[in-house]
Amino acid sequence: MRLQDKVAVVTGAASGMGKAIAELYASEGAKVIVADLNIEGAQEVVSGITEKGGVAKAVQVNVAKQEDIDNMIDTAVSEYGTLDILVNNAGIMDGFEPVADILDERWDLIFDINTKGVMRAMRKAIPIFLEKGKGNIINTASTGGLNGAHAGATYGASKHAVIGLTKNTGYMYAQKGIRCNAIAPGAVATNISASMKNINQFGMERTKPVQGVIPRVGNPEEIAQVALFLASDESSFVNGTVVTADGGWTAAF
Ligand SMILES: NC(=O)c1ccc[n+]([C@@H]2O[C@H](COP(=O)([O-])OP(=O)(O)OC[C@H]3O[C@@H](n4cnc5c(N)ncnc54)[C@H](O)[C@@H]3O)[C@@H](O)[C@H]2O)c1
Repeated sequence: MRLQDKVAVVTGAASGMGKAIAELYASEGAKVIVADLNIEGAQEVVSGITEKGGVAKAVQVNVAKQEDIDNMIDTAVSEYGTLDILVNNAGIMDGFEPVADILDERWDLIFDINTKGVMRAMRKAIPIFLEKGKGNIINTASTGGLNGAHAGATYGASKHAVIGLTKNTGYMYAQKGIRCNAIAPGAVATNISASMKNINQFGMERTKPVQGVIPRVGNPEEIAQVALFLASDESSFVNGTVVTADGGWTAAF
């Protein structure tokens, strides 16, 4: 049990990587807040966890709303007494738009969810971590947060910003017992394509050669193992950095 009695909040935990992270954390002894916009999906994940003897609670959250973020973190504290691990994983894709085709509305939504949601949840959690003298933040970025041709301009910018936030936070609180790291997954089999709207043919075509060198598509459980390492004390000297988990994809460039 690598996370015995730790209290973890995982966003975007109704599906894909968030679900796999919530399930693995619970199986390692953590009490997990399964937070997602999709409350039915979150409740299903909780049922699966509790059937296996784990401890979890579903909370509906729109990470684009501060009041929902506050409620999510407050629920962890009221239900389980504290917060030890925050996993900012909820995210959506763009439609592969190059900059000339970006719509303000779509840019704002993607940044609200992928970037501002991460900042707001960290801002809410840090005072708890400072008071305890310890805490652990894991942000799901993307290889698109390190390179330019994995999606459209908006998604790439939103994930580059998450990596910047992660590095700054890891550095700022390094002497306060708080660690903050990001995972940069490559292509992983999840439901994220459902969030791709109005695919931009030009943008999609430009990314195709890059998609063509993907060695293989990963499973959410493979990303969850990275999130477990980062959440556990085994990674005690890993801080303010990005762990790429892409099967070797970005080794190509
Ligand atoms: N799948 C990939 O290939 C891939 C690669 C790199 C990074 N990522 C990142 O991984 C993370 C998880 O995505 P996934 O691939 O598991 O996708 P997914 O669509 O399977 O899961 C994402 C979850 O986030 C939830 N969500 C969406 N908007 C939300 C909001 N406003 N508030 C709260 N919850 C919200 C969805 O309901 C869903 O349950 C995302 O940040 C994504 O950008 C995915």
